[in-house]
Amino acid sequence: MSAEEQKRAVGYRAAGYIENGMKVGLGTGSTVRWLLEAIADRRTAGEIRDIVGVPTSDDTARRAVALGIPLGTLEDYPELDIALDGADEVDPDLDVIKGLGGALLREKIVVMTAARFVVLVDESKLVDRLGQKAPLPVEIDPFSLGAQLPFLRRLGADPVLRRDGNGNAFRTDGGHIILDCRFAEGISDAAALAAALDARPGVMEHGLFLDVATRVLVARSGGVDVLERAGR
Ligand code: A5P
Repeated sequence: MSAEEQKRAVGYRAAGYIENGMKVGLGTGSTVRWLLEAIADRRTAGEIRDIVGVPTSDDTARRAVALGIPLGTLEDYPELDIALDGADEVDPDLDVIKGLGGALLREKIVVMTAARFVVLVDESKLVDRLGQKAPLPVEIDPFSLGAQLPFLRRLGADPVLRRDGNGNAFRTDGGHIILDCRFAEGISDAAALAAALDARPGVMEHGLFLDVATRVLVARSGGVDVLERAGR
């Protein structure tokens, strides 16, 4: 299977987790686009009804509307049955880096409200240690940029301001900016790093999603594997 075929396969598999009446957190990214297609197909075929999606980005909202998927907000549905989303890296403990699509803040808020969080990846996203391949996105208030660069360097990161196609600072849906942080040897202590970032004023969110994935669906050339976190 090509990379795109793997994304399609895992997107369609993930849609199978949605049951009638569920409130569903809809992630963001190129894998989730296939999930949205699959949800639309299942609705059209009458396999699922009365579902509502809560989108994690304006992009996902636009695509879902175009596919006729009913949407709501966290004001309407503060408790979701399941959140389905892609990821940039997954380690053996099913801890995850997300945010290369720039939607990490809303993605983490939606995951927080969901009873289950199912992650959709292809096998290229599996790593031994987080930060080995992908940078860690750190979303910050623009006012704090000058203060965050030395702070992140002290944490062992090499932070680079993310830019859009026009060379301007990339802006999230919430108007923040993102520093993509590379770690030379990967991230040695993800929990300690997450705690330091969580405590830092001006850091709106970071891409470490630790201890939250219930299952990870991994598309491989021969099919989709399901990795489960014990006790979730
Ligand atoms: C969006 O902000 C990200 O967290 C995505 O979920 C992640 O980057 C995976 O995206 P792809 O499915 O496009 O690889």
